[in-house]
Amino acid sequence: MMKTLERPLELLYPLPVILVTTRSKKDKNETDNIVALSWVGIIDSDPPTININMSKGKYSGKTIKATREFGICVPRATNIKEVDICGSTHGDEIDKFKLTGLKKVQATEIDVPLIGECPIQMECRLEDVIDFGRHEMFVAKVVKTHVDEQYFQGSRADFKGMGLLCYVDGSYYRLGDYMADLFFCKKSMKGEDLKEPKDEQ
Ligand SMILES: Cc1cc2nc3c(=O)[nH]c(=O)nc-3n(C[C@H](O)[C@H](O)[C@H](O)COP(=O)(O)O)c2cc1C
Repeated sequence: MMKTLERPLELLYPLPVILVTTRSKKDKNETDNIVALSWVGIIDSDPPTININMSKGKYSGKTIKATREFGICVPRATNIKEVDICGSTHGDEIDKFKLTGLKKVQATEIDVPLIGECPIQMECRLEDVIDFGRHEMFVAKVVKTHVDEQYFQGSRADFKGMGLLCYVDGSYYRLGDYMADLFFCKKSMKGEDLKEPKDEQ
C-alpha cells in the first residue's frame, strides 16, 4: 500500500546545501551577509545559469534584488554548525561572518565576499526574479567558478573527498558513496570496458 501525501515537495531529494553571500552596500564589508539555501537548481549550461529560491521578504532576497550580485559557496559537512547558524539568523540583525567565524575571500567579478572554507565558490549576476506564491525564483548567470585545487582531478572537480552537505526533508545528510560515471552502460555496449559501480569511501 502507498501512502498519499498532501505536501510532497520535500520528497524530491537530495538537494544541495549552499551558502549564498551578499553585500548590501558597495565596498562596505560590514554589510556582508550569508544565507543557507537548499531549494536551488541548474537551468542552463551555456551561458551557465542557475536558480535559487527564497520565501518572499527575506533580507538576503531584498539585498540581491538591489545589488543584482551574489556568491554561491558550497560548504563541507564539517561546517554544519556554521551552516545551521546562517540558516536560522537574520543578516539585518546580526553579522553572520563574525558570529560563525567563516573566512571572507575576495571575489574577482562581483563586490561580494566568498567563503574560504567552501571548496566550491561561484560568482553570480542576477538576470531575473520570478514571482511564485510564497517564493521567488532568482535566476542568475554564473560569471566565475572557483574549486579548491586539492579537490580537482584532471579536468573535473572530485566530489568524492569533499564531504559535502545535502538536505533531505528537513534534515542534513553527507553526500554518499560514489557508484559510477554517467552512461557507463552505453560505453559497455560499444565494447568498451564496463565500469562496475565502485564501493568507495
Ligand atoms: C539547510 C537550510 C536550507 C534552507 N533553504 C532555504 C531555501 O531554499 N529558501 C528559503 O527561503 N530559506 C531557506 N532556509 C532558511 C533561511 O536560511 C533563513 O530564513 C535565514 O535566516 C534567512 O537569512 P536572512 O534573514 O539573513 O536573509 C534554509 C535554512 C537552512 C538551515
